[in-house]
Amino acid sequence: MRIAVLVSGGGTNLQAIIDSINEGRITNTEICLVYSNNPKAYAIERAKKAGIPYVVKSPKEFENRQEFNEALLQILKDADPDLIVLAGCLVVIPKKVVRAFEGRIINIHPSLIPSFCGTGFYGLKVHEKVLERGARVSGATVHFVDEGTDTGPIILQKPVMVRDDDTAETLQRRIMEQAEWKIMPMAIDLLANNKVKVEGNKVVIEDYDQNIVDSL
Ligand code: GRF
Repeated sequence: MRIAVLVSGGGTNLQAIIDSINEGRITNTEICLVYSNNPKAYAIERAKKAGIPYVVKSPKEFENRQEFNEALLQILKDADPDLIVLAGCLVVIPKKVVRAFEGRIINIHPSLIPSFCGTGFYGLKVHEKVLERGARVSGATVHFVDEGTDTGPIILQKPVMVRDDDTAETLQRRIMEQAEWKIMPMAIDLLANNKVKVEGNKVVIEDYDQNIVDSL
C-alpha cells in the first residue's frame, strides 16, 4: 500500500510510521510522499533522513486558496497514493481532495472524539480545554476524513489518564507517546492488510480486540 503522509510540524507521528515500517509493525506499506505546507517543519528533515520523496508547498505561494487547493490535489494525484495520512497536518483539506480520495484519508486527533474536537481544536489547545474541563481521561483517535472536521468514522482510539499535575504540554507529550505513536501505525497496518471496512458511520475491524490496543 502506497501512503502519502501530510505534515505541518515536528513529524513525530511520521517518525512513528517510518520506524514501524522499518521494524515490521507496519507491513505491505511504503511511504511514497511526504507533503508539508510548512518549509520549517522538522518533519521534512525526518523525510530527508529516511530518503522519502517530499514536497513543500505553502498556501502563501498562491494568489488565493482556490489555486492552492488545485495545486495540492495535483501533488497528491501525481504521487498516486492508496492512502493519505494526515499526521499533524494543519492545512484544511479541500473538499475536492476529500472527494478525489473518498474513504482513503485518515487523520490522528489528540483526543477521544467526539470530545474536544472540531473547528479550532488542534495542537495544545485540545489539551488546554481538556484540563480546563477537568476531564479525567483523554487520549487519541484515528479516524477517516470526510468533509467535516474530525467527523469521519472512528478507526482506533486509545485512552490516556489525565494527571492532577498535568500541564497541556505534559498531557500532549504523554498522549503522543502512549497513544498517537501506537494507534496510527496500527491503523495503517490494518488498512494495508484489508482488515478495515466501513459500515454506515461505523468502522468494522476484522478480529478486533481492544485489549491489543490497550497493550500497545
Ligand atoms: C499531534 O499531537 C497530532 O495529534 C496533532 O498534531 C500533532 C502533530 O505532531 N494532529 P507531530 O507533527 O506528528 O509531531
